[in-house]
Amino acid sequence: GSLTAVRGRLVWFHDDPFLVGTEKAMRYEEDGLMICQDGRITYAGPYESGRNSIPPDAAFTHYPNHIISPGFVDSHVHFTQVGMIASYGERLLNWLQDYVYPEEMKYSDKGYAEAGARLFCDDLLRNGTTTALVFTSTYPGSVNALFKESSKRGMRMAAGKVLMDTNAPQELCDASVEKAMKQTRKLIERWHGKDRNVYAVMPRFPLACTREMLKAAGELWGELRKEYPGLLMHSHIAENTDEVFEGRKAFPEFKTYLDVFRHYGLLGPGAVLAHGVHLTEKELKICHETKSAIAHCPTSNLFLGSGLFPLRDAKTPKRPVGVGLGTDVGGGTSLSMLATMDEAYKVSALDEHPADAIRLFYLATLGGAKALRMHKKIGRLEPGYEADFIVLDPKATPLLAKRTETGDGSIEDLLFALAILGDDRAVEATYVAGRLAHKRDRGGDKKNM
Ligand code: GUN
Ligand code: ZN
Repeated sequence: GSLTAVRGRLVWFHDDPFLVGTEKAMRYEEDGLMICQDGRITYAGPYESGRNSIPPDAAFTHYPNHIISPGFVDSHVHFTQVGMIASYGERLLNWLQDYVYPEEMKYSDKGYAEAGARLFCDDLLRNGTTTALVFTSTYPGSVNALFKESSKRGMRMAAGKVLMDTNAPQELCDASVEKAMKQTRKLIERWHGKDRNVYAVMPRFPLACTREMLKAAGELWGELRKEYPGLLMHSHIAENTDEVFEGRKAFPEFKTYLDVFRHYGLLGPGAVLAHGVHLTEKELKICHETKSAIAHCPTSNLFLGSGLFPLRDAKTPKRPVGVGLGTDVGGGTSLSMLATMDEAYKVSALDEHPADAIRLFYLATLGGAKALRMHKKIGRLEPGYEADFIVLDPKATPLLAKRTETGDGSIEDLLFALAILGDDRAVEATYVAGRLAHKRDRGGDKKNM
């Protein structure tokens, strides 16, 4: 198996800084060493105490002054929307009809889906994202295309076939609930637990689903999560006020909008709801009680003019809701989780107490892993954990170099500068299961000029 050792500044989270504070939550090893064997971490601690246990045949790399963090977890993204990212001028409901659905229809073509999946996985790794919860399209072939690529790269990837049977072009809609469930079952059997892949049952959002579809999806998830532990549920909710209005009108029998999901058995640990911008206090309480998580997607919420997610409120220790960070490409404008932290910071800065770098990095790593119920496997640099990690360069660009040289040198300041100024260029290297999966190509910067 693979033997890897890296030396640098190790930073990770053992717990949730929103709940226990930075001191208790963060782990920092200024001159750290990590040793990985057969895809797992066997040592993470001070270089001095670990240097003698570096196996002689390990591939050893010293990254002086670089930050070594768990790989990023993108808790909501659409691989089928890389072709229509940056589409001008519409809000959610029209944007879906005019840009998203026509693009997703192209994914019925095997070659198009495979090329998209390749580009997507390569770009995740280039951005330091080692795990993502991914929306695909209604076509099972697009799910196969994605999982084939994640398997090839050894990534821990979560995805599923989109379930939708109303308010969209017929070619994109499931022909029947029964057929959609049959396809979903087959995909779960084929992919859940195969290599590092995880399946997620994916009703698109209430407005794209009939009651029959939601009911069947909830029943399937309820039935199969016993047989397939870790099976997720993934959808969108309360992203935009028009959507909430239409959703309430389409499902008038429920007390709250979120009750649509609760009623059909679509909430619980392992349910990840994208956006949640306009959830009410009652609904946040339902999330807390059912242990459903929210994927906060700030670049998308701003790009589509959807609104400002109340992060502090969602994470209040009084009734905390699990939150991860999502890029939501192509509503989102970048696959970089650093760019996403930047935007999350700006949204939170409109609040009285903006989120600090510690909390932002937590959301992008362990927070996402918790939302995806993978926190016993990924998201920490601790022995036994899967060795998905990234190396960040605080001097990746002239501006970052200047800023980090001038700063106070604390880890908090370094992480904050990286979150605000960083993007894919700050990702020096990405390791998946202990193997180098991406190394920054500095020649590439020039080629594109
Ligand atoms: N709501 C339902 N479908 C989508 C989608 O594809 N993107 C976003 N941002 N919201 C949605
Ligand atoms: Zn989305």
